[in-house]
Amino acid sequence: MSSIKPLRKAVFPVAGLGTRFLPATKSMPKEMLTVVDKPLIQYAVEEALEAGIEQIIFVTGRGKGALEDHFDISYELEATMKARGKSLALIENIRQTPGSPVYVRQQEPLGLGHAVWCAREIVGDEPFAVLLPDELMVGTPGFLAQMVEAYHRVGGNLIGALEVAPEETDKYGIITPGAVDGPLTEVLEVIEKPKQGTAKSNLMTPGRYILQPEVMKILDNPVKGAGGEIQLTDAMAQLIGKQPFHGYTFAGDRYDCGDKAGFIQANLALALAREDIGPSVRAFAQTLLS
Ligand code: UTP
Repeated sequence: MSSIKPLRKAVFPVAGLGTRFLPATKSMPKEMLTVVDKPLIQYAVEEALEAGIEQIIFVTGRGKGALEDHFDISYELEATMKARGKSLALIENIRQTPGSPVYVRQQEPLGLGHAVWCAREIVGDEPFAVLLPDELMVGTPGFLAQMVEAYHRVGGNLIGALEVAPEETDKYGIITPGAVDGPLTEVLEVIEKPKQGTAKSNLMTPGRYILQPEVMKILDNPVKGAGGEIQLTDAMAQLIGKQPFHGYTFAGDRYDCGDKAGFIQANLALALAREDIGPSVRAFAQTLLS
């Protein structure tokens, strides 16, 4: 029997303040921003379910109630739509089974590492995925499904690994790469936001992770890292050399929707790809650009 433990749980840290997207995010969670007609969080949850995840865990904070409502029954809306003979297809499938998702609170936004640690009691002694919903990943199969397929072969810890322009490496967690085997790259080191000119590669870690539960023990004794925040990167870096640790390069497209330009690009790309609205959006975009 394989010693690789199955992956059943996924953590969605959604307690950040979203300051780069103000004023939109003053009273609305960043993860509820919509790309065409679906909030970012729904794209991420669908990606996780497609990858076989059974338990969804949201790490939320104050002012994030809209997220909880989105995955719940909306009685008034459903009753009114039913009475008017309208299809509920677009809202019925969002609801999760009773008892899921699980919500835990991060009282203060102390950083991604701290947010993930807030889910430790629910994660328990199992491997788990982490998905950052403001990173929209579009591909077939989805990013996490591709990672899970690789996880079943190599086990241990897997993190996304995508190339960025060399001048952008100081914005991200950057991998020091070892041996490369197709989409898998051995991770020798991972450094959060290295100073300009010091990065060992231009392979950044976008917001997809499969981690072993030992990382929670490391986060029990957190250290403040880049930006004065408790960084997930710093904690998982301590597992390198002790457990298998690979980067996975996604065959698909990434949109950084925590950033205004990335968010607009995602809306444009996904709108153009749609059968219903694509033609009219394309015609309008062409008039703007001509
Ligand atoms: P970001 O680095 O994008 O931070 O977090 P942010 O606060 O959401 O946005 P800006 O930079 O102020 O605009 C990446 C992910 O980690 C979550 C966020 O909700 C987002 O999904 N996060 C971050 C937390 O849950 N808690 C934190 O303390 C920090």
